[in-house]
Amino acid sequence: MTAGLLEIGLNRALCIRKEHLSSCPEACRLLYISDIHLRRSRSERLGQQVLESVHQCRPDSVLLGGDLVDSRSELNRLSDLIGEIGNVAPVLAMGGNHDDHVGIERVKDAVTNGGGQWIHSNTAKIFHGSRVIAVSGPDARVNADGDVRILCAHNPAIWKTARQQSYHLVLAGHLHGCQMVAFEYRDRLFPGAFFYPYCYLSHQNGGSRLVVSRGVSDLVPIRWRCPREVVLCHV
Ligand SMILES: [Fe+2]
Repeated sequence: MTAGLLEIGLNRALCIRKEHLSSCPEACRLLYISDIHLRRSRSERLGQQVLESVHQCRPDSVLLGGDLVDSRSELNRLSDLIGEIGNVAPVLAMGGNHDDHVGIERVKDAVTNGGGQWIHSNTAKIFHGSRVIAVSGPDARVNADGDVRILCAHNPAIWKTARQQSYHLVLAGHLHGCQMVAFEYRDRLFPGAFFYPYCYLSHQNGGSRLVVSRGVSDLVPIRWRCPREVVLCHV
């Protein structure tokens, strides 16, 4: 059910939010998708919505930003979904706190079984024209290589340290509990930011930009002024 800015349930199509680090027509298009939260009774619908957004965006690569599954029963569905996304674009993935609960090694295996690349502790290189785009996971050694350096993370609290590092773009999700938005102030969403200081949407610090996705789903599917989304980054 949806009514204006209120969304109850998971029926509405995912919004596609665009972030531009580059305005050139040859920019690399990276689709960041976080917080899919596959679980019984909703996995099929969420998988369809994710796939629709991927087909609509036609990205060069897809980055999965953690909290992929909420229960072990959905690991095969995760593999299938990654396989289907992989028919459109390569998939890089890392884990979030819910994946830790399921078992990070199990989630890693599900990702690689589906044909995705697990980057939680390492850096992948995407070759785009003459440029190298380096995408690191949250536990990777700080990376200074690549024409564009991206940190693909889950919890935006990583911004506390990552903004001092050499990343051009830091991606996060993990909106848990902050899906009711009364107002935005200085790039942050309130009242969530009263409790989680890194409850940003997008925030620039020198040459580094933090982009936080509102994510694909939540434990409790009720939102207000906080659309479910994927983020298409032009870098
Ligand atoms: Fe999370």
